[in-house]
Parts: sequence; C-alpha cells; structure tokens
Amino acid sequence: MATVDASFAPARSARRIDWLSRAATLCYLSIAAGQLLFTAFILFFYYPSSLSGDFAAWNTKPLIKGFVAGDAGGNLFFAAHVMMAAIITFGGLVQLVPAIRNRWPGLHRWNGRLYLVSALMLSLGGLWLTWGRGTWLNLTGAFGITLDALLILAFAAMAYRTARARRFVEHRRWALRLFAVASAVWFMRVGYMAWGIATGGAGIGRAMDGPFDLFLAFANSLLPLAVTELYLRVGARGTPRAKAGIAALLLLSGIVILIGSAGAWMMIWGPYI
Ligand code: HEM
Repeated sequence: MATVDASFAPARSARRIDWLSRAATLCYLSIAAGQLLFTAFILFFYYPSSLSGDFAAWNTKPLIKGFVAGDAGGNLFFAAHVMMAAIITFGGLVQLVPAIRNRWPGLHRWNGRLYLVSALMLSLGGLWLTWGRGTWLNLTGAFGITLDALLILAFAAMAYRTARARRFVEHRRWALRLFAVASAVWFMRVGYMAWGIATGGAGIGRAMDGPFDLFLAFANSLLPLAVTELYLRVGARGTPRAKAGIAALLLLSGIVILIGSAGAWMMIWGPYI
C-alpha cells in the first residue's frame, strides 16, 4: 500500500517530496490499526454471543442498555447493530486502499454497496436504539449521536449519487467525508482514552455529563470531519506552507489515535475477549 489515496492527495511533484500524502498515509495506517482492534473486539465479543442467542453475555460489559429480559425486539435490534458495526468498520478501511480499488474495481463496488447499506442500517437502527428504546445517559449525548446519524445519512446519499452519476472526483470527496462521520463512534472511544491518558480524565462526568463529555458528544463527528475538509481543501488548492501545516496536523492526529487506540484496547476492548 503506497499511499492512503493518491486521488485525494495533491499531484506528486517530480522534485519535491509530497509530505501531505505521506502524512495522510501514516494517519490512515494509525486509523487502520485502531479500527482493526475495534473490529477484533466486536468479532470476538459480540459475534459469538449474538449468533448463539446468549444475549445476556453482552451485559458483562458496561452498557447503557444492552440485553433487557423480555425485550425481544430491542435485543434483536442491538444484535443486528453490533454485527453490522464490524462490517462497516472493516469495510471502510478496505474502501480507502487505492491498490484494492485499482486492481479489483468490482470488489470496491460491492464492498461500497455493503458499506452504504450498513451505514443506513446503523444510523437508522442507532436512532431507534437511542430514541425508541431510550438508550441515553444525557440529552447532549443523544443529540450528538443523532447529529452523527444525520450526517452519515446525508453523506452516504451524496457518495451514492455521485458514484451513480460517475462523478468520481466528487464521489471520492463525499466518500471520505462519510468515512470520517461513520467512524465517529470509534473516534469517541479513542478520544476518551487519549484524553484520559493525557489528563487523568479531566472534565469527564459520572453520567458522561462533564465539559469534556459534552464537547466530545459533538466533536466525535465534527472534529474528524473538519480535519478531512481541511485536508481536501488544502490538498487541492493550498500553498506549500498550508500543506505543511495540514501534514503536521495529520501526523499529530495519527499519534493521538495510536495512543487512544492502545488505551481503548487495554481498557475497554481487550479485557472482554
Ligand atoms: C456507524 C457506525 C456505528 C458503529 C460502528 C457502531 C457500533 C456500536 C457498538 C460496537 C455498540 C456496542 C457498544 C460497545 O460495546 O461499545 C453500539 C451500541 C450502540 N449504538 Fe452504535 N454504532 C454506530 C452508529 C450508531 C449511531 C449513528 C447511533 C445513534 C444514532 C448508534 C447508537 C447506539 C446505541 C444507542 C447503542 C447502545 C449503547 C449502550 O447500550 O451502551 N450507533 N454501537
């Protein structure tokens, strides 16, 4: 895998090293490492219990509302949600590898359809879990994840429409924005861990209602989206200085993501598999 995506990156100059696309590749690799750990957790923790019908096993992990005795519909929704979660997390990583897109365009198209269907099901199902089943600790968190669901739905529609219309430059931009917001629930876990390691948990409330909780409720989707937007804009039209600045931002993000992912594995994923 040479670059994260040459088509998202500015053209490679013959003489200058393209630091921006190198930094984007490193950032992608650290996201991939963290999302593979998340996928492994879902596969080893949620798949065996969901497929065997041992739903009560979910509650060995702290959840707001996992298995509820007598709530067959809610439990089935939850099972479908966590099983789809592995598909979207792994599928997104595959979509962004240029070598796969170039060598196996059919795989890119089918995986892309699966990714869009899982994005649709996770956001609509997630909205039902939040508001229908009443899975929330505070309203700010519920509104934050609702905003994420709406962004996923909007960007998925744009990625689909532009692909159907064969407007591939635009399609790649919408697909990257979709990846940023569809990764929000993972960013949230990694963000909590990185912040916890750096500050000892400053601003985190008991009911996830501290200042940092309220910030992360919206930043989990808006922050990665802002970084993606800067990368796209500066990559297309930025001055060399702006490109160097975004390359540094991507490198820093990659380091924070690696630290947060290692923390998430040690604290919230690894102990349950
Ligand atoms: C699109 C990517 C998404 C992924 C990969 C994902 C993944 C997950 C996972 C793995 C869980 C189990 C909790 C855990 O062990 O951490 C979960 C639970 C949940 N998700 Fe999602 N989710 C996504 C989107 C959404 C959206 C958009 C919403 C809301 C609009 C949502 C609402 C929920 C709710 C309410 C729960 C139950 C939480 C609890 O009981 O503690 N999810 N999700």
